[in-house]
This record gives sequence, C-alpha cells and structure tokens, in this order.
Amino acid sequence: MNRELAEAPIGVFDSGVGGLTVAREIMRNLPAEHIVYFGDTARLPYGSKSRETILMFSRQIIRFLKTQQVKAIVAACNTASAFALDEISKESDLPMIGVVKPGAQVAAQTTVNGRIGVIGTEGTVGSHFYREFIQDIAPAITVIEKACPLFVPLVEERWIHDTITHQVAERYLSELKEQQVDTLVLGCTHYPLLRSVIGEVMGESVTLVNPAYETAQELKRMLKAKDLANPGSDEKEFPYRFFVSDLAEKFKVFANSILPYDVGMTQKIDIEEY
Ligand code: DGL
Repeated sequence: MNRELAEAPIGVFDSGVGGLTVAREIMRNLPAEHIVYFGDTARLPYGSKSRETILMFSRQIIRFLKTQQVKAIVAACNTASAFALDEISKESDLPMIGVVKPGAQVAAQTTVNGRIGVIGTEGTVGSHFYREFIQDIAPAITVIEKACPLFVPLVEERWIHDTITHQVAERYLSELKEQQVDTLVLGCTHYPLLRSVIGEVMGESVTLVNPAYETAQELKRMLKAKDLANPGSDEKEFPYRFFVSDLAEKFKVFANSILPYDVGMTQKIDIEEY
C-alpha cells in the first residue's frame, strides 16, 4: 500500500448542502477517511439545469478537488451523477463513484413485486438514469419515476416535520402508492432528511432506499479493492474540510445541524477560476 496516498482525503461534491447526507454516511461508515467537501452554493439548483451545464460545473469542481490532492471522488449529487459522472470519470485517472448506481443496485435487489418508485429532481427523473440502471440489472422491473421539486426548498427551510411538507408529500407520492410500488428510491440528496414523512405517507410495506448510505458502502468496497483505504493516521486535527462557492456561513449552520461533527470553518472559493 502507498500509505501517503491512502491517507489522502476523499473529494465529495454536490450543488450545495444536500450532499452532506452522503458526507454524513461516509463519516459514520468510514470513520478513518478524511473528506474535502465542495458545495456549489452559488450555482444551485442543479436539478433544473441542462446536462451541458452540469457537465461544465462538474469538470470545474473536479479540477478544484484535484488541487486538494484527493485520492478518490464521490459525486454526491444525483443530478451530477446522472448527467456527468460517465464523462468526467473517463476524463480523469482518479477513481470516482456517484450516488445513482449504488441506489439503483440495492433497489433492484430489494423489490419483491418488481415495482420500484424513484423520486428526484426534474433533471434526475428526466434523465431516466435510475430506470436504465435498474432495468440493466433486471429488465422485467417496472420503474415509476416522479419529480418532487418542492422537497428541496422545504428541506432547506428546515420544514422537515411540517404539515405543509406532509401535504406536499401526499400529493407527490399518491401516484406511486396507486402504482403499488414496494420499493422507493430517495433519488435526491435532500430526501433522506424527509425519510420519516415519506415513510409515513408510503406506509410500512414500502422499503425506502437511501442512495447516500449505499454510496458509502460502495465507496468502502472500492477503496478496499484499490488498496486505498486509510489505515488511520495520527493527524486528525482537520479530518473534514468544507468549501463552497457562496454563502459560507449559511452552509456552516446547515452542516452543523445534520453532521455528527462540529464544522468550525467553511471556506468560500471562486469555482469559476478552475
Ligand atoms: N443535489 C441535488 C440532487 O441530488 C438536489 C439539489 C439541486 O437541485 O441542486 O439532485
């Protein structure tokens, strides 16, 4: 093992705060790993933008993360994973994973009645990437996709258990209930934070798949296979570093409300320079 390389951080990126749900699972499940997180808070949302734009943003972010000497990259954004991961991973020698494939794999293994629901941003749902991955694994599975764009602002407003959020969830999810899905993929970074409301609306018989958790498991397997897992270093003073393209203070407050770690500082950078 190249110890210096194994001790390098993992680069994790998202359009903003949502990818923190993925960072949180990496912190919980791979506690020896260090993280450099980038949230593109100046240019979110990604979910309503075109593939070309997301590809351009993702390329800039990869260039920035490389300056931080990361050993691997996690596209912690469903939209970026759907639109850009294939391209950017071909262009770089760094190992990369996204959130879509791990979520799709587990959903395909979980369903019993062969009917899976996928909820996400307009971009992710419109790309049909979850459906394609699921049907690559098991062509007979029916995948019903639904964009739920209002969930993101509701989470960012912290209206996680509000009646309004419940009503919005009822309205978005009624079609999936009628279609009798037995598995539902939370295909947007923010949705794991609405897990309890979504679970209540869908009912106990529906299994919710959290791609953030599955991505952390996939990352663990990938690091082990490539002999890149951090053996655990003594230098633990700043295991996690956070960068954003705007509103660093607001990001920090949100991060501290969901992470099992005290985010002391978030640094604003000009991502357009990369
Ligand atoms: N992070 C995005 C995703 O998972 C959601 C927020 C956005 O649209 O930027 O698709």
